[in-house]
Amino acid sequence: MADTLTITDNRTGKTVEVPIENGAIPTKALLQLKTSDDDIGLRGYDPSFTNTAACKSRITFIDGEKGILQYRGYPIEQLAEKSNYLETAYLIVKGELPDAAHFTRWERNITMHTMVHENIKTFISGFRYDAHPMGILLGTVGALSTFYPDAHDVENLESRRLQTRRLIGKLPTIAAYAYRHSRGYPYVSPDNELSYTGNFLSMLFQMRERRYVPNPVIERALDTLFVLHGDHEQNCSANAVRAVGSSLVDPYSAVAAGIAALYGPLHGGANEAVVRMLESIGSVQNVAKSVARFKKGEERLMGFGHRVYKNFDPRGTIIKKLAYDVFEVTGKNPLIDVALELERIALQDDYFLKRKLYPNVDFYSAIIYQAMGFPMKMFPVLFAIGRTSGWLAQWAEMLRDPEQRIARPRQLYLGEMDRDYVDIAQRPAPTDREDMVSDSI
Ligand code: CMC
Repeated sequence: MADTLTITDNRTGKTVEVPIENGAIPTKALLQLKTSDDDIGLRGYDPSFTNTAACKSRITFIDGEKGILQYRGYPIEQLAEKSNYLETAYLIVKGELPDAAHFTRWERNITMHTMVHENIKTFISGFRYDAHPMGILLGTVGALSTFYPDAHDVENLESRRLQTRRLIGKLPTIAAYAYRHSRGYPYVSPDNELSYTGNFLSMLFQMRERRYVPNPVIERALDTLFVLHGDHEQNCSANAVRAVGSSLVDPYSAVAAGIAALYGPLHGGANEAVVRMLESIGSVQNVAKSVARFKKGEERLMGFGHRVYKNFDPRGTIIKKLAYDVFEVTGKNPLIDVALELERIALQDDYFLKRKLYPNVDFYSAIIYQAMGFPMKMFPVLFAIGRTSGWLAQWAEMLRDPEQRIARPRQLYLGEMDRDYVDIAQRPAPTDREDMVSDSI
């Protein structure tokens, strides 16, 4: 049986045979279906890309029904247990796990790039004392493009590799400085004797001690959280990085676009919203009442639901276990009881079952971050540190793919046509105009 799809256009009776490749049809083939010579042809309509593959990729595999997540073919469970963030970042970016010599070189290369230019510190100091650290991260990563003009040479493999090392190296430094700025604390220089995550903790939390010694349980747990956030195929921020990067802009600008996308409450900002929600629920006794509110659609149950996972989010399962390791050190976060009760009630309730809404990565990571002492505003920043390797891998894959061109979706235009300009004095009265412009922002 041929791997094709036969489509008959009932408007004209014309039939076309379209190839099926990798479980998809090229929607460009629909352009052959025209009703007349001046018709541009049939388009696919898929708002928010719910059933449209925008690229071929070899980075991350997800089976949302079965709750499978793999980076380059390796299950997330094994990477979370056995790997570390820098090794996983190598895997995500380069496609294979490194041997010992390559790992040592990679680690050294990233570590060499943990420092930032002194002007970056001045730049960060210019933000208001209460600036959201995600806004600081977004602005500062974008500003890095002005520090490294060589990054504009995006077609050059060596340049791409250098910017990749710089970005993975500098993200924790900028994130830590954003945090220190909000506290009014002096910035702490990177300690290159520590691990990637140990150094991050040192830049965040070192005070008067001569040398910061990270707690190994916290260091390992945070590192695992970075592994879990490494990549997640074509999510909102990866799509932003690819779309912006497709203009051949430098990777700092493209990654800044990813950070901007991640900032939103439906994406990386959800973990922040989870804590606010759990705090507003307050106690286990209030959970049932709140669930009723979520069901009425008055509010969303933050940290629940996923566009792709429809049974469970494998990252959520790992993080839930990790939470208890962290609580051994930090003491139990009282919000965990509210979260557990919320999960228990929601997972028995028809509303959530019918819509396949389960805890996602943000539900329990938020509680861990809070137990570790991070202010809520830092949660999406932590997500961004882990996701940087994924954004860079997606960006490089897009650039190397000969089928990719500048991202440019089509639209179905439904607006007015062919109107003649009316002089301002002759336009309708303001009350009528309000109706006319009510659809606009
Ligand atoms: N609480 C209550 N109802 C929900 C929720 C929720 N968290 N999520 C979806 N629904 C309902 C929604 O109202 C709709 O119901 P109906 O069919 O009656 O209109 C149905 O479920 C389908 O929802 P949808 O908005 O069409 O689903 P989506 O695939 O577009 O959205 C989502 C996915 C993650 C944006 C959404 O589930 C959500 O807003 N969750 C809360 C925010 C959150 O936790 N985001 C983190 C996502 S995971 C990490 C990341 O990507 O950054």
